[in-house]
Amino acid sequence: MLVIVLGSAAGGGFPQWNCACPNCRDVRRGDPALEVRTQDSLAVSADGRRWLLLNASPDVRAQIERQPVLWPARGRETPISAIALSNGDLDHCLGLFSLRESQPLSIYATHAVRAGLVDHNALWATLTRRPGQTVWHELGPEGSPVTGARGDDLGLKLTPVPAAGRLPLHLRGRREPNAFDNVALVVSERSSKALLVYAPGVAAPSAALEPWLERASAVFFDGTFSHDSELVDLGLGSQSATDMAHWPLFSPNGSLEYLASRCRGRGYLTHVNNTNPLLRAGSAERTALEAAGLGVARDGMELEL
Ligand code: MLT
Ligand code: MN
Ligand code: ZN
Repeated sequence: MLVIVLGSAAGGGFPQWNCACPNCRDVRRGDPALEVRTQDSLAVSADGRRWLLLNASPDVRAQIERQPVLWPARGRETPISAIALSNGDLDHCLGLFSLRESQPLSIYATHAVRAGLVDHNALWATLTRRPGQTVWHELGPEGSPVTGARGDDLGLKLTPVPAAGRLPLHLRGRREPNAFDNVALVVSERSSKALLVYAPGVAAPSAALEPWLERASAVFFDGTFSHDSELVDLGLGSQSATDMAHWPLFSPNGSLEYLASRCRGRGYLTHVNNTNPLLRAGSAERTALEAAGLGVARDGMELEL
């Protein structure tokens, strides 16, 4: 299984347009300790020809242009055969609307994520202008083989695993939360034992995810915040990481320790917020992360599992 990190930043990207925190300020100045990052998404393939995107970020167009394997070879034949959504947050779904040039799209999502995106959404009509423009596949707990919009088999299977999270901001107060609003996406390959866990939004540990973390060949995990009060301490917000349903790495019972004991050598942080001090090479947080046998996903990073 081939995996390409298309983007590794949380919503807003890095730098974020309206932010002058120390990280955003220094990355704009070209400080070599920091790297620009687009919003989090992975591309996965069994054969190197047909690709499954995990989430469609607002940066999807630029992400495609940076990855020659995602360029169409002729006519309108995109190698992007399918797209899976881990939740309905805008940083994971807005890219779908950029992929609207009458291209048939095969989209995998849980019932809850699909309903949140499609119901009462006037913009959605732009992806249903023609019959067959969007082919939905409902991800039930048992998982699903992945096929493209024309029924071609990608040799991959997707399984959604409920992860602690919350409703997308725009749905809060409009309906009751559901366990399948926010999932980790597990991708397995039929012809090998390769197993990828992609969990960009995790608020707390969960029993359902444990066995998958232990079996995974690689894990991409919520690295949004190092510290629970990170935004408050920087004077940039009033919400803690916990309030935002992102498990901080360095709090007591933080995610760092949890990941270090379960996926040492196989674990990478993604969906990293622009304020996170571990974005800076040489910071105490980055040093602690590396000492724990974990890494930060980087845009353009490739793995072969
Ligand atoms: C999150 O990761 O918490 C969400 O992307 C927040 C948001 O939608 O702004
Ligand atoms: Mn997000
Ligand atoms: Zn910032």
